[in-house]
Amino acid sequence: MIDDDKRIAAEDAVAEIRDGMLVGIGTGSTVAFAIRAIAARLPELRQAIFFATSIATEQAARDAGIPIGRFARTSRLDLTIDGADEIDPALRVIKGAGGALLREKIVAAASERMVVIADGSKQVERLGTAPLPVEVLPFARGFVAARLAALGAEPVLRMADEGSWRSDQGNIIFDCHFASFPDPAGLAVALQAIPGVMGHGLFLREVDAAYIADRGTVTKMERNTT
Ligand code: 5RP
Repeated sequence: MIDDDKRIAAEDAVAEIRDGMLVGIGTGSTVAFAIRAIAARLPELRQAIFFATSIATEQAARDAGIPIGRFARTSRLDLTIDGADEIDPALRVIKGAGGALLREKIVAAASERMVVIADGSKQVERLGTAPLPVEVLPFARGFVAARLAALGAEPVLRMADEGSWRSDQGNIIFDCHFASFPDPAGLAVALQAIPGVMGHGLFLREVDAAYIADRGTVTKMERNTT
């Protein structure tokens, strides 16, 4: 069961949290299991402070009794636990199917250590099967769509019932499909250079470790720092 795999990956990652840590909490269905695991450990984590990467996570954490700090008042965290849409063998990751990529990237950058949690379906040999989400200022929609197409993408505007889907910041998202996925590092630089692009889902250096569960067994991948 995929949900059992999500749960055990989340529980192993939550075991990294020590009392007194400042901890970022990502967004998504796998992170929902991390929130439950954190709530279960709260009696031993009284001095830890948690920070949410989305309004949905903040609400879910508060509902579970987890105290949430204001990220705007901090500059560094000890650890962040987040989900992922694709993870390659070099711990390069695509994120953002849940639409929280911009806050997730900021929180990841502020974190001493970032771990991702996932079921085995997220493990890939090469990035690029999942669409790459790009968060865009609505004002720049047409301009950015053209620039994304020039980079080889087919940008699909993410929709909601009432029109274009909006991020917690009020921005739109283009889910970008590539006929052949370009060099991720070069693509990240090119995307960030487009005025109006607020963020993208390539996390190429942020992730320090991954807990990936497949049919009941959790494998931990650690970034090789030597
Ligand atoms: C949200 C994300 C999520 O962490 C990612 O989409 C994984 O979600 P899930 O655990 O539901 O598969 O990046 O912006």
